[in-house]
Amino acid sequence: MKPSSEIPRPAGSLLNHSLRFAKNTMRFYEDAFRECGDIFATRIPGLGNWVYVCSLDLAKIIVEAPPDVLAGGDIEGFSLAHLLGKGAASQLDGPAHQERRDVTAPYLSTQESRRHVEEFRAITERRLAQWPLGKPFPLVLELQRIALEALVKVFFSAAGPEKIQQIADVYQRFSFKGLRSPASVHPTLQVELGPWSPWGRVKAKQREVFQLFAAEIEARLAAVDQPDQDDIILGLARARLKDGSRLSREVILTEILDLLFQGHELTGDSMTWTMGELITNPEVLAELRRELDAADTAASDPPYLEAVVYEGLRRRHSNFFTTVRRVKQPFELGGYLLPEGTLVCVCYPALSKREDLYTQPQTFNPGRFLEQKPPTDARCPFGSGAHACAGQGLAVVIMKTALATIARKADLKLAQPEVHPVRNAYWYEPNKGMLVTLEQRR
Ligand code: HEM
Repeated sequence: MKPSSEIPRPAGSLLNHSLRFAKNTMRFYEDAFRECGDIFATRIPGLGNWVYVCSLDLAKIIVEAPPDVLAGGDIEGFSLAHLLGKGAASQLDGPAHQERRDVTAPYLSTQESRRHVEEFRAITERRLAQWPLGKPFPLVLELQRIALEALVKVFFSAAGPEKIQQIADVYQRFSFKGLRSPASVHPTLQVELGPWSPWGRVKAKQREVFQLFAAEIEARLAAVDQPDQDDIILGLARARLKDGSRLSREVILTEILDLLFQGHELTGDSMTWTMGELITNPEVLAELRRELDAADTAASDPPYLEAVVYEGLRRRHSNFFTTVRRVKQPFELGGYLLPEGTLVCVCYPALSKREDLYTQPQTFNPGRFLEQKPPTDARCPFGSGAHACAGQGLAVVIMKTALATIARKADLKLAQPEVHPVRNAYWYEPNKGMLVTLEQRR
């Protein structure tokens, strides 16, 4: 077994890596795979030691490793518990993690999410009605907002339209001015120097979101003994854990904030990338519109629409790795011994463009997902194994509903010459937010 220092690294100096990584992260990873093969390592300053795998076999080894060897929840240095609170499912491992996932799963499933389709459609239509005609605007902000309102509606099921707006506004301020602030991720900036300091501003937004969410959760819990009422907040409050205990108000709050953090931007960003592909591939958009026109809108689940969503997630993604784990005990991977503390992950940009897995991987061809079912292994854009995305059913239903509504009702044109991914704190969005012009409403 070889030491981890012998894992292939892309050629060039550390500075060269950092510059290429910052300029176009997706291309950096694709090139690294071409240059190094199924496993490679990087050390980008500020990110730590990472090992990436790009093959299904190596990914399977990661997914199947037990949590005391490769942890998926306890990945210190990579957690936002100092902002979102402690004890969300995503921070747990082993039986406690599975137990919590079992509580939330019924509320995030595809079947349950489909009950909200009309609400998601109404949210999309209301936003779309406000888009300016003939004037460029950043699509990503609109689609993130649609995703956010959809998730708020699911989580706070008793809230009316005004309350949903209020909750979404407060969360959005926290997201843009708190979570995205450099102070959130750099411990050296996390010093209390008054309300106008970077950390002071983050804390103010955090207080605002905690206060409102805690009050809304408390109000909802008045219905905890009414069996005819149910949603994820009531489900979390009613859950009795194996040791007989119940979840505290603080943990319920953290769980809801974590689900919003994990879900809203990724869903909005993914829809934006897919919409961009539809705009630049008019024959695919025409095929989708033909399917949607022929569909019985209330009951059907059009297959091409789902294929568009999965091909969008494969072709352009908002997160560059799935299945992130931290090594807890020396671990062998691909013939190398990884020391404790190493971060390993599946390099999704490389895996999803492998020519032995996808014919003509660089083309946007939803038809491929009519023949092969959406993947459940490491090819899955939502990850796989114990920590696979908890909200994937809900995310797909939101994306299908919003994209279908926009495809039916709006003619959009790209209003910027070139689109590439740029990092916004945690995920990757299109540069300039993908400027588009609404040419006409249909
Ligand atoms: C297109 C949208 C989305 C994408 C591409 C996405 C992708 C992912 C990925 C790749 C992971 C890590 C999986 C792994 O480690 O193997 C993840 C985890 C997670 N996602 Fe999503 N996600 C999306 C939407 C959502 C939504 C809408 C929610 C909430 C409703 C959500 C909640 C979560 C949670 C809670 C986790 C952590 C799971 C755990 O550690 O047990 N995600 N997601």
